[in-house]
Amino acid sequence: MTRIPFIAGNWKMNLTVNQAREFAKEVAGKIPAKEKVESAICAPATHLEALVSLTEAADLKIGAENCHFEQKGAFTGEISPLTLKDLGVKYVILGHSERRGYFFETDELINKKVHAAFANNLTPIVCCGETLEEYEAGKALDKIKSQIKEDIKGLKEEQAEKLIIAYEPIWAIGTGKSAGREDAQKMCKAVREIVKEMYGEKISQKVRIQYGGSVKPENIKEYMACEDVDGALVGGASLKPDSFIKLLEGGKLA
Ligand code: 13P
Repeated sequence: MTRIPFIAGNWKMNLTVNQAREFAKEVAGKIPAKEKVESAICAPATHLEALVSLTEAADLKIGAENCHFEQKGAFTGEISPLTLKDLGVKYVILGHSERRGYFFETDELINKKVHAAFANNLTPIVCCGETLEEYEAGKALDKIKSQIKEDIKGLKEEQAEKLIIAYEPIWAIGTGKSAGREDAQKMCKAVREIVKEMYGEKISQKVRIQYGGSVKPENIKEYMACEDVDGALVGGASLKPDSFIKLLEGGKLA
C-alpha cells in the first residue's frame, strides 16, 4: 500500500517568533501538494499561533514539541493539549530523546500524553531510539521494543492507525553522523513489526514511520527509498526555508 510520506521539521528551541514569521512567509507558496507529501513544522509553543495563522492557506501543518497529559489544571509552565487543538495545531511530538534525557520523561508518562493527544484531536509523533552504548551492544531492537510497547499501548484501532512513529537513534541526533540506509530500514521495519504484534497487520501497514537523525537534503532520498521509511523528522536542516523545501521536494512521491 502507498503511504503518503510525512516530513516534519523539529525546530527544538531555535528561531525567534519573528524569524518563524519570516520562515512561514518564505515557504508558504513553495510547499508541495499534500497528496505527494504531508509537510509539517513542529515549533516551540510560543511560536505556534503565529505559524498557524501564516500557513493556513498552504499545505503545511503545524505541530507542537510537547504537551501535558491533562487538559487544564495546576501545572505551572505546562502546555495544554486542549489549547494546542484550540490554536489549530495538528501534531505533537512526544517522547523525543531530549525530553526523555533532559526532562526525565518515562514511557508511562509518554503513554498518558499519547492518549491525551488523541483525545484532543492531535496526531502524536512518538519518538523512540537507542543510545550509542545500546547500539554498540546490539541492544537497539530491545530498546525500541520496550519503548514502543509502553508508549502506544491501549489505543483504539482508529487512533492507532493514525500514529506517526519516529525512529531516532540518539547517536545520530545533531551529530552529523546519520544511520546507514540498512540500519534505518531494519529499525523502521522492526517498528512496524512491533505495531503489528500490538494492533495487527492492517493497522501496521497504515502507521507511518519516520527516520530522524542528521537528515538533510543531500541524504533524504536515500532514506525515502527504504520500504519501511515513510518520512523524516528533521532538526537542524529544517531551520532554513530553502533547506526545508529541498527536504520536502526530496521526500515527496514522484
Ligand atoms: P537533527 O536532524 O538535527 O539531527 O535532529 C534530529 C531530531 O532530533 C529530530 O527530532
